[in-house]
Amino acid sequence: MQAKSHMSNKKIVILGTGGTIAGSATHASDNIGYKAGQVSVSDLVRGVPALAQESLVVEQVSQLDSKDMDFSVWAQLAGRVAHFLALDEVQGMVITHGTDTLEETAFFLQSVLHPEKPVVLTCAMRPATSLAPDGPQNMVDAVAVARYAGARGVSVVCAGEIHGARDVQKVHTYRLNAFDSGDAGPLGYIENGQIRLLRDWLPASVTARDASLAKVAGIHGEWPRVDIVMSYAGVSSAAVQLLVADGVKGLVVAATGNGTLHHALESSLQGAQAAGVRVVRASRCPQGRVLAKADDVFPDSRGLSPVKARIALMLELMV
Ligand code: SIN
Repeated sequence: MQAKSHMSNKKIVILGTGGTIAGSATHASDNIGYKAGQVSVSDLVRGVPALAQESLVVEQVSQLDSKDMDFSVWAQLAGRVAHFLALDEVQGMVITHGTDTLEETAFFLQSVLHPEKPVVLTCAMRPATSLAPDGPQNMVDAVAVARYAGARGVSVVCAGEIHGARDVQKVHTYRLNAFDSGDAGPLGYIENGQIRLLRDWLPASVTARDASLAKVAGIHGEWPRVDIVMSYAGVSSAAVQLLVADGVKGLVVAATGNGTLHHALESSLQGAQAAGVRVVRASRCPQGRVLAKADDVFPDSRGLSPVKARIALMLELMV
């Protein structure tokens, strides 16, 4: 889709991946009984009059419920984003995505691309067929962030908030403002089209990008297998033992509080580590970070949530 911009001749690229933002229900009053990933991203864009004056390139990368996100879509997405970001005529990018694994895709793209231009993931909590869908406003806000001078890195725009890929987490199952960045807070807000920044964008790095993209492109079979286990009352050592026997390369443990582990799980994880499996401790607490101690047996996740620590470890294990 091409239309002349009133702000800049540079293009914003919008990639569609599916999600509730592209979801369809039988009844407009139904905000939960819908099928995600039904409406094409071109139709979504066409349905937003506020985007009609924008200079846009629109491409469908996938059409899925993001609960089913997988490595092949991530690799394809990283490739398309890298391709478009390298074009001089592209100012920034927007990716429409389901909310359920959005924080994982955002963190993956930031970790692999470290982009100097803005890559803005956006979403919706209500399907496109809803009486009052939230997707259109989120898309307009996301384009405003992608147009913002000086914006860079991967961010998430939802319900008027801008979150950084490192800290953002989905925290609510139904509310429109379903995302939060915990102690870090949002990067800023979008208010009636205006950006109010609270902190700096994520850092960019061309060297890190080239190395990471080469690693991802070099994976032709399985990605390094990293699983997540959780510490909880009465947990047994069985899951860890089975995973090690099954050839897992890394384990992230969603530990209690400040990274503490049930003794049964701790000893099975020590066994896994001794057998060459990389073990990383994240906290199952939604806020705060594991604070390292001198006698720690397992490294901590440097503030990453369990799902993001898993992505970081997978990327580390790619050679
Ligand atoms: C999905 O993640 O694709 C479905 C749920 C949502 O987008 O809110």
